[in-house]
Amino acid sequence: MKATLRVRRFDPDSDTPEAHFQEYDLDVEDSATVLDGLIKVREEVDGTLTLRCSCRSAICGSCAMRINGQAGLACNTKISDAVPRGGGPITIEPAGNMQIIKDLVVDFQPFWDKVRAVEPWLQPEGPEPETEYVAPNDAMLHEAGVMACIMCGACVSDCTVLAVDSNFLGPAALAKAYRLVVDPRDDAEASRLARLDEYGGVWDCTRCMECVEVCPKGVAPMDRIMALRDKAMERGHTGTYGARHADAFADSIKHSGWLDELKLPIKTFGLFNIPKILGLVPVGIRAQLAGKRPPIFHKSIPGVQGIRRIFDRMESRR
Ligand code: SF4
Ligand code: SF4
Ligand code: FES
Repeated sequence: MKATLRVRRFDPDSDTPEAHFQEYDLDVEDSATVLDGLIKVREEVDGTLTLRCSCRSAICGSCAMRINGQAGLACNTKISDAVPRGGGPITIEPAGNMQIIKDLVVDFQPFWDKVRAVEPWLQPEGPEPETEYVAPNDAMLHEAGVMACIMCGACVSDCTVLAVDSNFLGPAALAKAYRLVVDPRDDAEASRLARLDEYGGVWDCTRCMECVEVCPKGVAPMDRIMALRDKAMERGHTGTYGARHADAFADSIKHSGWLDELKLPIKTFGLFNIPKILGLVPVGIRAQLAGKRPPIFHKSIPGVQGIRRIFDRMESRR
């Protein structure tokens, strides 16, 4: 089949280091992957094209890049599937939210620094067992979903929070943190959750689901972050804005069946937190102008008793 790869090029050492797109027309097997196409370009057309790859089997995690605007592994994306509907070139760019070193190669150092920051090793307490630490099968089966992570960085590339705040630990590091928190051989849950409760931790995720969408291994980082939030609250970490927002949200739904948008910021930030409340005024004005004014008098929806019963049942199971 014929295909055109439109590749974003950047060479900081060239005389003209501005990023630009370059197109390559290829004739490839129907089964060829985007990585096969890029290697063909490098070997037959332009030896300066720079990219990372190793296993070519979606195992090593080194070939994550943006393909038509979304992160994925070049080695498990077929060219035939990536051709846009209606034809046209396949656009290939380096992974996002990381500094570009050259062409499709990005700097992973901040990624590894964040993984290291969650102390991704077991921290058992007490005397060492005479043989190995033994974990129940069920626990390890649950963890297998997270342990499938190949550290490719696709989730980090497309995380919408990292795009605006590089302090956020990000989906890969937080998924790794979850894997340690739920490991029955680890005894550092309390200190781990205390650290994750801080700025840059679990409460900074906006639940956009991008990381779930792009992860090639089904790790579902956002779900792990939500589970860490639950665990943090169960441990009594309820003082952050994030935790109070979650509590206020649930209280409103339980009380009236829907969200009281006027009370939510007050309960989250506190009535006398004037700077925070004033900071929301522009949002309120924009909402008004867009015709999205929440009612002053918040009424319960019909049948709210059913919703309260659901809450009661959930709370009785804790
Ligand atoms: S769900 Fe959270 S962690 Fe995942 S991409 Fe969105 S903001 Fe980032
Ligand atoms: S969670 Fe998924 S997308 Fe993120 S690094 Fe791991 S395998 Fe890659
Ligand atoms: S080359 Fe190893 S994951 Fe793509």
